[in-house]
Amino acid sequence: MDGAPLRVPQGASAAAAVLLAGADAIRETPVSGAPRLPYCMMGVCFDCLAEIDGTANRQACLVPVAPGMRIARQRGARVAFGG
Ligand code: FES
Repeated sequence: MDGAPLRVPQGASAAAAVLLAGADAIRETPVSGAPRLPYCMMGVCFDCLAEIDGTANRQACLVPVAPGMRIARQRGARVAFGG
């Protein structure tokens, strides 16, 4: 995550990869900046929002990892296209 290479089991989600990496957060909330980590692992809580391969607001628990995938911490709200 955030540029560090990581080996993960085939079929794992991007959220699982972040947890396996021992990251202290996958995103920071827009209002308070509180750190968050994946929680429900099934698309309900949205605490796994991350920037995956340059696209923000991806639910990392629903995205299978792929070779070369880049997962970065999402800081605050997603920046709108062109904004
Ligand atoms: S971990 Fe809850 S939506 Fe992804």
